[in-house]
Parts: sequence; C-alpha cells; structure tokens
Amino acid sequence: MTQCNCSNGAHTAALRDEILRLKKEKNAVILAHYYVDGAVQDIADYVGDSLALAQKAAAAAGDADIVVMCGVHFMGETVKVLCPDKRVLMPDLEAGCSLADSCPADAFAEFVAAHPDHTVISYVNTSLAVKALSDVLVTSGNAHKIVDSFPKDAKLIFGPDRNLGAYINSVTGRDMLLWDGACHVHERFSAEAIASLKAEHPDAPVLVHPECRRPVVLMADVVGSTAVLLDYALRSDAKEFIVATESGILHKMRAGAPGKTFIPVPPEDSTCGCNDCGYMKLNTLERLRDCLRDEAPEIVIDQATAEAALKPINRMLELSK
Ligand code: 13P
Ligand code: SF4
Repeated sequence: MTQCNCSNGAHTAALRDEILRLKKEKNAVILAHYYVDGAVQDIADYVGDSLALAQKAAAAAGDADIVVMCGVHFMGETVKVLCPDKRVLMPDLEAGCSLADSCPADAFAEFVAAHPDHTVISYVNTSLAVKALSDVLVTSGNAHKIVDSFPKDAKLIFGPDRNLGAYINSVTGRDMLLWDGACHVHERFSAEAIASLKAEHPDAPVLVHPECRRPVVLMADVVGSTAVLLDYALRSDAKEFIVATESGILHKMRAGAPGKTFIPVPPEDSTCGCNDCGYMKLNTLERLRDCLRDEAPEIVIDQATAEAALKPINRMLELSK
C-alpha cells in the first residue's frame, strides 16, 4: 500500500522555537482546527471544532494584537467578524473549503429569494456573503439544537451541506429545504469501506462526521462534530475505533488515548489509508512561521458584509448556550 505523508514530520525544534519567539515578539495568539497537521495543533494556543473556535475566538484572542487562524478561510473570516480590532492572519489564504465553494452567494441569494417565507439556516462552512444572507448559522456541534429551537411547522432552508441537512432532517423529523452542496473530503467515505473494516474489527465503534453521505451515517455508532467524536473516543471503554472524518482528528485521539487504536476509514477511490483535506493541510509549520514573521497574509473583510454576517453568528452563539 502506498503511504501518504499524513503526519507531516517536517517540523524541527528550531522551527518551533522560531514560531514561539515570533509569537511572543508580535503578541500573537494561535488558533487551530482539529484537521490541521498535528505539529501545528501542538504549537497552537487553542485547538477546537468550528463551534468552539467561534465561541472562544474573542476570549482566546484576549489582549493579543494578532490572531493566527490555522484552519480554512471561512474560519479566519468568522474570527475577524468576532474580533474586528485584531489583525487576523492565516498561514495560507488559499486554504479554502469545497463545501463553502459549493454555495456561491449570488445563486444562494436567488434560492432564498424564491422562498421568501422560509427562515434561512446556514452551516458556518460558508463565505461571509452567504452568512450575510442567513437568519442563523449552525455548526455540526449545534445544528440539532438550533433547528429544534424553531417551531415544528416552521419553513426552513438549510444550506449548504445536503448531507448534514439530511442528517438533521432525520433526527429532528423536519423537511427542511436543502441546498445541494457537499464537502469533497467527507463524500469520499463509503459504507462498503466501513463494512470491510467492521468485519475485521467487530467491536470497534464507528465514529462518523455528519458531512458524510447517508449510507455512511447509517453505519455509525456515533455521529457528531470533531469535538463530539474526540470526546467519545477518549471517554469510551472500547479499545478500537473506526473513524470516518478528516484524518487530522486522529492526532488528538492518539495523543489523548495512547492505549487505544484508531482506524481511519480510507477514501473509496484511493489506496492511501487516510482522507486528508488538502486545504487544511496547507497550514504547515513553515507557513505559520512565515506568516508570523511577515505579518501576512491577512484576512480583510468588507465592513457592510461583516455587519450583516455578525447577526446570524451572534444568534447562533446565543442559541448554543
Ligand atoms: P467541525 O469541527 O465543526 O466538526 O467541522 C468540520 C469541518 O468540516 C470543518 O471544516
Ligand atoms: Fe471544507 Fe471539507 Fe475541508 Fe472541512 S474538510 S474544510 S468542509 S473541504
């Protein structure tokens, strides 16, 4: 089997020292998502899922002048909206998101306009312009709770992830109108690959992110955000786990439970053992060092769009309490 470079071992003690020195010198704080390379997670001040990163952005930024968001572009935008006075940097601005790209703002605006009596619920994996068109945002960690906060007969649009939307429809008994978008990483998991791992490891619970397709979700023992899957893996008495989400999450699972075995589900069209998000993996230690040194690239957002996006972000944070 071809080995992929899933755990980037390129970081050196010198590189880490340089990042820590620059971080202090520039009064910066480093936030990271669970999908970035383990070496980057290890040097971050705070690592979390999309919900926690949004919830803790302002507090984690504290008195810092600079926040470096090691994740993808929409996460950097959300931090900038929540911390407008900070300079928000990212190691690589090319770190986008196929799910956010599957929902262009102009097409989504037409969809929303065609259903004027609907409330618009959007996943945080969207551009700022799509957030600005939304009534409330959700993450995979709070979507169930937020959708449940609406009356049973409310007319709801859910975008852009058709898989998360279908999952939330199934657990809430709703019939939300779904935008037809998806994440190219999670769509690569198949029920067949899980079935064959399950045959080899019958006692291993199957942990699945709700961005996966319906047949994959139906194989799950636990469906949840990265933080939910991590928490389950650390607290469960099971010794082995089959994991169907981006491979970066394995870093914290293995670090938190060294005696347990975490088996990544391979993508259906590849012989490589791991399913990586190429965007997340643009966050390398080298680029993090360069970004702190050069104070670039920086997230710059349109003020009017940011103000419009702040409302649904704040509504989400309020409803998540
Ligand atoms: P969560 O960390 O909220 O589960 O997000 C998954 C994801 O796809 C982020 O891009
Ligand atoms: Fe976007 Fe999917 Fe990558 Fe998450 S894993 S950042 S949803 S492309």
